[in-house]
Amino acid sequence: MSRTLIRGGLVISATDETYADVLIEDGRVAALAAPDFAHGWTADRTIDATGKYVLPGGVDAHTHFDFPFGGTASSDDFATGTRAAAWGGTTTVVDFAVQPRGGALREGLDAWHAKAEGKCAVDYAFHMILSDVTEASLKEMDRVVGEGVTSFKLFMAYPGVFYSDDGRILRAMQRAAGNGSLVMMHAENGPAIDVLVEQALAAGRTDPRYHGEVRRALLEAEATHRAIRLSQVAGSPLYVVHVSAREAVAELARARDEGLPVFGETCPQYLYLSTDNLAEPGFEGAKYVCSTPLRPREHQAALWRALRTDDLQVVSTDHCPFCFAGQKELGRGDFSKIPNGLPGVENRMDLLHQAVVDGHLSRRRWIDIACAAPARMFGLAPRKGTLAPGADADVVVYDPRAEQTLSAATHHMNVDYSAYEGKRITGRVETVLSRGELVLHRGEFTGRPGHGRYVPRATFS
Ligand code: URP
Ligand code: ZN
Ligand code: ZN
Ligand code: ZN
Repeated sequence: MSRTLIRGGLVISATDETYADVLIEDGRVAALAAPDFAHGWTADRTIDATGKYVLPGGVDAHTHFDFPFGGTASSDDFATGTRAAAWGGTTTVVDFAVQPRGGALREGLDAWHAKAEGKCAVDYAFHMILSDVTEASLKEMDRVVGEGVTSFKLFMAYPGVFYSDDGRILRAMQRAAGNGSLVMMHAENGPAIDVLVEQALAAGRTDPRYHGEVRRALLEAEATHRAIRLSQVAGSPLYVVHVSAREAVAELARARDEGLPVFGETCPQYLYLSTDNLAEPGFEGAKYVCSTPLRPREHQAALWRALRTDDLQVVSTDHCPFCFAGQKELGRGDFSKIPNGLPGVENRMDLLHQAVVDGHLSRRRWIDIACAAPARMFGLAPRKGTLAPGADADVVVYDPRAEQTLSAATHHMNVDYSAYEGKRITGRVETVLSRGELVLHRGEFTGRPGHGRYVPRATFS
C-alpha cells in the first residue's frame, strides 16, 4: 500500500476552492482534509504544494493520435501524444477509433486498441467515428457501447470520406437514443462547401486563407441547426464538436433555452487564433488549417461568453497534428489538399489558465470545462475530472505564477511547429500524477509508455 500526501495547496474543483491536504492511497484519492486536521497523516511521499493549485488531471475528450486523414496520418501516435498530454496536465484522453468505410465497427475498434495498447503514458478511452451507417453497423453500435465506447461521431462534412446524409444520421441518432450513447456531430454542410471549394479553385483562389472563406460560418450554423432538429426528432442527446461560429453558438443556445439535451464543445484554437493566422504569407497559413475553420476575431467574444453561460460546456483540443514539412505542404497550390488539423493537446490547460488570468473565466469554470464536464459528459465521472474521495488520483500541481513561452522548440508534441509560437503564458504544470504514480515533477518526466490504461466509459443516459 503506497501513500502520497499533497500538502498546502489550493484544491480547485468545478464547484469549490479550498485549502486542503490530499491523501492518495493505492492510486485513488483517499481523503481531503483542512490542513489543521491533516497533521496526523503520514505518507511514503509528500509533495509540497504551498502557493500552488491542486487540480484534477485534465480530460481532453477530442484527440486524433495516429489518425489517417488527408492522404497522410497525424504525426503524434499514442506514445508521443499521451506523453505530451501529461506534460500539459492532461491525464485522460478520449480518442476517435474509425470505422473503415465499407467495414465493421469491430475492425476499427480493434485497430485503435492495437495502436494504443502498451504505448500510453496516461489513461485513454475511445469514441467511434461512424463512417458507414448500415443495418449491420447500427446493430454493432449496441455491442461497442457494451465495451465502454459510449459516443459516436457523425460527419455532415467530408463527402466521400466520413460524410453521412440526413437519413443515415437520423438512424444513428435513433439507435443512440435506444442504447444510451451520445452522438457527436461535425456540423458543417459538406456538399455545399465542396461546391464552394471547386469554384474557389477554378477561380485561382488556392491559398490557405480560402479554406476559411469557403467553409462559411452560415454553413456551420445551418448544419448545427439541422443536427439539433434531427436529434430532437430521434429523441437523442447531441454534442456538437469543435464549434467555432457565433451563429452556431446561437443555434445551441436557442436549443438549450427550449430545454433540449444539446451540448457543445469549442477548442483553444477558436478562442485564441483567427482568420488572420490563415492569411499569414508564404503558405504559413497552412499551419492553421482545420475544420471547422478559424473564424474572424469577432467570433471569439461569443465563444467566451457561451463558455461562461454554459451554452458551451467543454473545451477539448481536437489535437490532430500534421508537420508543416512534408504534410501541410501537400496542399501547396491547392488549399483543399492541406491535411486538416492543429496540434494542441499539451497546451490546453495552460491556455485556459491564461483565460483565467485574462478575466474570461473563473478558476472553477476553468476546471469545469477542462476536467469535470468532459468527464461527466463522456461517462468517466466520478473516477475522472474531480478530486473527490474514491476518484482516481489523477492530480496536477499547478504553479499559477510561473511564466512560460509556448514554442515548438520546447513542446513535447511530435510536430515541427506550434500554433501558439511565442505566446506568453502565466502558469505552468509542476507535478502530474496518474492513478497515484508520478508522471512529471518539476520539469522531469517520469512516466512510461504502458502505464496508461483503457478506460471503459458509462453511457450518457
Ligand atoms: O481539422 C480537423 N478538425 N481535423 C480532425 C478531424 C475532425 O474533423 O475533427
Ligand atoms: Zn470534426
Ligand atoms: Zn432554421
Ligand atoms: Zn476531430
